[in-house]
Amino acid sequence: MDRPEIILAPGPTPIPPEVLLAQGSPLVYHRGPGFGNLMRDVTARLKELYRTENGDVLLMTASGTGGLEAAIQNCFSPGDEVFVPLAGFFSERWKQVAEAHGLTVRTSEDEWGTKLDPAKVADALAAFPDVKAVLLTQSETSTGVIQPIEQLARVANDAGTLVLVDAVSSLGAVPFEFDAWGIDVACGGSQKALSASPGIAFLAISERAWAAHAEATLGRYYFDWSIYERFAALPHPENPWTPAISVMQGLAAALELYFQDGVDVALARHEMLSRAVKDGARALGLDLFGEGLDDNWTVTAIRAPEGIDADTISDRIRSDFSCVIAPGQGPLKGKVFRIGHFGYFSELDIIRGLAALEMTLERLGFPVKRGAAVAAAESVFQAAHTGVG
Ligand SMILES: Cc1ncc(COP(=O)(O)O)c(C=O)c1O
Repeated sequence: MDRPEIILAPGPTPIPPEVLLAQGSPLVYHRGPGFGNLMRDVTARLKELYRTENGDVLLMTASGTGGLEAAIQNCFSPGDEVFVPLAGFFSERWKQVAEAHGLTVRTSEDEWGTKLDPAKVADALAAFPDVKAVLLTQSETSTGVIQPIEQLARVANDAGTLVLVDAVSSLGAVPFEFDAWGIDVACGGSQKALSASPGIAFLAISERAWAAHAEATLGRYYFDWSIYERFAALPHPENPWTPAISVMQGLAAALELYFQDGVDVALARHEMLSRAVKDGARALGLDLFGEGLDDNWTVTAIRAPEGIDADTISDRIRSDFSCVIAPGQGPLKGKVFRIGHFGYFSELDIIRGLAALEMTLERLGFPVKRGAAVAAAESVFQAAHTGVG
């Protein structure tokens, strides 16, 4: 029988019924008061999520990578120097986008799974005095590591550079403070912690980033912030081009849900779900990958047991249980599999994912104590609710 897949991947994340209904409703025409109200609501809520009063938030029809491209096109001129501390697949993406636009990209290289050391970034910036911006990735989705953006931004600010952050897979799942941390551009996406459909990228933009935009000469058109700003300032705010209207309707509903209990409750839920997945995997005797596990609330990378290819685990759990987890990327291919736990997940979603993992591993010949992962997750949930594990 056809059933929806059970998604435990780091985005797109499962979409709540309220969001599906909203995005399946008749289109709100994109020029006029209805869409204007949607834009106003979504923008105001995103500003709260970014924790910014000083920054502007722009919404663009694109996936997350479009947001990164928009940031590069709007802040720089050909040949400008930027610094990217590499430690995974998505920091590499910053480098590729910057290089594609003719920037000079300085890098440091840390092993995948490393939590970046701000002091090393400070040293690198001292060695490259012409760097204009540091390009950071908050949740390195390929390794599960949440990078210490506050501290990294401080060293970048001290060095007088702009700070651009890919927060695509972290905004809404872990703490983020656009104003307090001195961030200049932060990119987010509709399909991750907010659990709307893919299709809308959003950017928070500081005054310093607007100043950089005014000087920047890289070619830009579709993503030109000035055009977006002009349309957003209309009495009924608009997007310059035909937007992903249905996704916007869904995103407004997703934010409504997200904000029902407030940001702090949503963040605490992410921490709890992360702990449950990690304790569950450990209870099966599996090793976790990456540094800073207590902070890594978006996705957990788990090493495959000796003698089993990690891709076989992600393939088998999908074919046997319709459960989608993510394989390893780059050098981690075949070595780790990744369970995403951000977005619209409840305790029972995690429990059924762990149960599927137990049965999959057993079918692949790994000795499993049935129920061990589920019991460990239950202990986390019971402790969170009653104070007793
Ligand atoms: C950290 C990070 N950056 C950027 C992206 C952008 O991807 P996309 O363009 O597929 O939305 C992703 C998607 O997984 C991501 O995890």
